[in-house]
Amino acid sequence: MSRRNNPVGILDSGIGGFSVLKQVQRLLPEENILYFGDGAHVPYGNHPEQTIVALSRYMFEFMEQHQVKVLLVGCNTISCVTEQCVDLVSCPVFNAVQAGVNGALSGGGERVGVISTVFTHSCQTYPRQLMAQGDRGLKVCSRGCPNLASLVEHNLGSGEGMDRVEQELRRELGELVEQEKIQCCVLGCTHYSLVSDRIQKLFPHLTLVDPAQEMARNLASYLRGNDLTREGGGKGRVTIYTTGEVKEYTLRANQVGLERVEQICSYPALEI
Ligand code: DGL
Repeated sequence: MSRRNNPVGILDSGIGGFSVLKQVQRLLPEENILYFGDGAHVPYGNHPEQTIVALSRYMFEFMEQHQVKVLLVGCNTISCVTEQCVDLVSCPVFNAVQAGVNGALSGGGERVGVISTVFTHSCQTYPRQLMAQGDRGLKVCSRGCPNLASLVEHNLGSGEGMDRVEQELRRELGELVEQEKIQCCVLGCTHYSLVSDRIQKLFPHLTLVDPAQEMARNLASYLRGNDLTREGGGKGRVTIYTTGEVKEYTLRANQVGLERVEQICSYPALEI
């Protein structure tokens, strides 16, 4: 039986994937979306690989139980271990890293920066794929930021908190801009996309690549090309599950400007 009326699944370690959700709502307003954010264990980027794999497999299982028609691994950190999880789902899986690589290669210039979590940086997936798929002269500088995702997760909308986010951005990205002379930067963590306007203000000449936009475009062409768009007309709704605080997710969903959020539910966290 066709799954075309089933939801699109989006997962992330926390609220960062709201950046992907927002882009999907913009391009495919008719789709129902099921979101899972592992608020109890965010940030993932400072965990060891085996913990990230265990937590990610837990979320993949959740998505399979809910029969999503396509799974978007919004989280770049989880995208680095997706190969160790795909056996759990029967639907196509789109990952953030490939989207970021495609975005950077289509018009990013010769000196490309990538900012990400420490884990994503340590995997070197971005530099490897960019070098393999890009032109010979391409120079890639990757940087792992231990505090940034967590600062964004808990400080959106707070003046003082966002000042700390800006300070951290200046420190982490400033070096890539001033010393490495990067022309474009991949926002290699979904949380950074949530503050992309601030990043652009701090570094106005830098071209920013947001994998969330590329993921939504890929999803739209996949669903349309495979007769998998939802039937029945009307706008779709969003259901959010989190292992974190429902109250905090409600606040963040509003701050990010998500539309048609029908329910935000609590889900038991995996014990690690
Ligand atoms: N937002 C996630 C990413 O795209 C990870 C943030 C974290 O949990 O450390 O990599």
